[in-house]
Amino acid sequence: METHTEFSPACCTMLVSVVLLGLCICFVFFQLRSRRTKNFPPGPPALPVLGNVLHLSLKNPLKDFERLRRTYGNVYSLFLGPKPVVIVSGMKAIKEALVNRGNDFAGRPQDLFVNDVTEGRGVILADYGPSWKEHRRFALMTLRNFGLGKNSMEERIHGELQYAVDTLAKNPGKAVSPGAMFHNMSSNIICQVLFGKRFEYDDEFLKVVVQCYRENAKITNGPWAMLYDSFPMIRNLPLPFAKAFKNFKTSQSFGLRLVAEHKKTRVQGEPRDFLDCYLDELVKRDNDDTTFSENELCSFALDLHFAGTDTTSNTLLTGFLYLMAYPHVQERCQQEIDQVLEGKLKAAFDDRHNMPYVQAVIHEVQRIANTVPLSVFHTTTKDTELMGFSIPKGIMIIPNLTSVLDEEGQWKFPNEFNPENFLNDQGEFLKPEAFMPFSAGPRMCLGEGLARMELFLIMVTLLRKFKFVWPEDAGEPDFTPVYGVTLSPKPYCMKVQLRAT
Ligand code: HEM
Ligand SMILES: *[C@@H]1O[C@H](CO)[C@@H](O)[C@H](O)[C@H]1NC(C)=O
Ligand SMILES: *[C@@H]1O[C@H](CO)[C@@H](O)[C@H](O)[C@H]1NC(C)=O
Repeated sequence: METHTEFSPACCTMLVSVVLLGLCICFVFFQLRSRRTKNFPPGPPALPVLGNVLHLSLKNPLKDFERLRRTYGNVYSLFLGPKPVVIVSGMKAIKEALVNRGNDFAGRPQDLFVNDVTEGRGVILADYGPSWKEHRRFALMTLRNFGLGKNSMEERIHGELQYAVDTLAKNPGKAVSPGAMFHNMSSNIICQVLFGKRFEYDDEFLKVVVQCYRENAKITNGPWAMLYDSFPMIRNLPLPFAKAFKNFKTSQSFGLRLVAEHKKTRVQGEPRDFLDCYLDELVKRDNDDTTFSENELCSFALDLHFAGTDTTSNTLLTGFLYLMAYPHVQERCQQEIDQVLEGKLKAAFDDRHNMPYVQAVIHEVQRIANTVPLSVFHTTTKDTELMGFSIPKGIMIIPNLTSVLDEEGQWKFPNEFNPENFLNDQGEFLKPEAFMPFSAGPRMCLGEGLARMELFLIMVTLLRKFKFVWPEDAGEPDFTPVYGVTLSPKPYCMKVQLRAT
């Protein structure tokens, strides 16, 4: 993978010919492959080799998916190349798969572009098995408040939040673009948890690693990765996806450097952060049969950083966009915050129990933000059933979380931003079952606790100090999301005014 050279146009033409020739040969061989097994979920007829690739527009397949769901129902199938995938929509079907038959559906695909890029390491993409189980259990325990030693999670969040407050306070009345601020903030909070330190915003770690993620997210999401997944014979060719392998190596070497630093300065039994906790555990398990190792730790830490950065910051971006577009909602939050926090220096996560309206707004923001629309792909771990269909072991499953977050019948106002979706007639907070932005079941987001704490403390602290106003000269707010690994709003500016406290 190391030695790729640039290609001239002539070579490209040749390459395309080779690929086309390859396709033709395979066409014959795979004639009989793209067939659905008995009682498999229905879907459009698939071509050999190509599957349903031609049914989808590579640029925005969303409209096509919507049409297929209307035609074939809540459990339908598609062929991406020769490989069948099942798309599951609506609360009933998703709950049956991810919760009621949770273990049957808790696998992850192991033959995709991203698996090859990450060398099969880490927790997000780990298949259902002992390594995933051990690491997940360890992470859940460690991320619990006070799991990380003296410095509580809340203090770490407030510490980082202070930088944003100071930056905003220096710019009263000015329009600032909050994208980078929320991104840096979410990234640094995870860094505080994982590595016990924040990074100056121009630090090499952040710059290089974030750049690598960005590029890899883009490549993973783009047409080249789809071709890589669909047509194994092109995998070793020096096509644009090769860059992703180099990027992974780069971020891994940064991770390994941090692990080495920690090993030099740590004291067994006195963990300063997540890395120390893991290294402690590694010593304790020295003689056992364990899946823990330093290499795993490095990928594990980078996974958590990756999983916790864009998700949280894009949710915050959506939140402040809607709070500016709905100023009466913002004001009502501020009233509740002022009242509950009167006389207190800062908000605690426990204060949420006295803030039903703010809770409703944050949940509604998550519902509307729809940050991870198709969850992370699952696979079946054994032959199983879903809504009466038979699905063999090893089939890729795509849970359509969007279809639950805006499902008719589950919400009072499925298609508008309205905190009433989370309030009962007495104005008390309540969470409908269909609220699943973190997915559900054994694979559910393992950072949910941390993410909810971040969203609450950040939104409450900023709303207490500042009023956020949509700039007069910015036209109308645009709510159309930008598609990527995670959904985000289009970049926007906000005007910040200090509130009298
Ligand atoms: C608003 C913020 C977040 C959202 C909306 C979100 C959403 C999700 C979703 C939908 C999944 C896929 C679950 C599935 O496969 O069914 C997931 C997995 C995961 N998330 Fe999050 N997440 C958020 C924040 C975080 C944070 C802060 C962390 C880090 C501590 C994190 C760590 C993970 C990990 C490690 C997984 C993989 C779990 C597994 O495969 O067992 N997430 N998240
Ligand atoms: C965020 O971090 C980047 C470097 O990683 C820096 O260039 C940028 O100025 C920072 N932005 C804010 C608003 O802090
Ligand atoms: C998921 O559901 C939404 C409707 O709730 C639809 O617009 C979208 O196309 C669906 N995506 C897939 C992949 O089926």
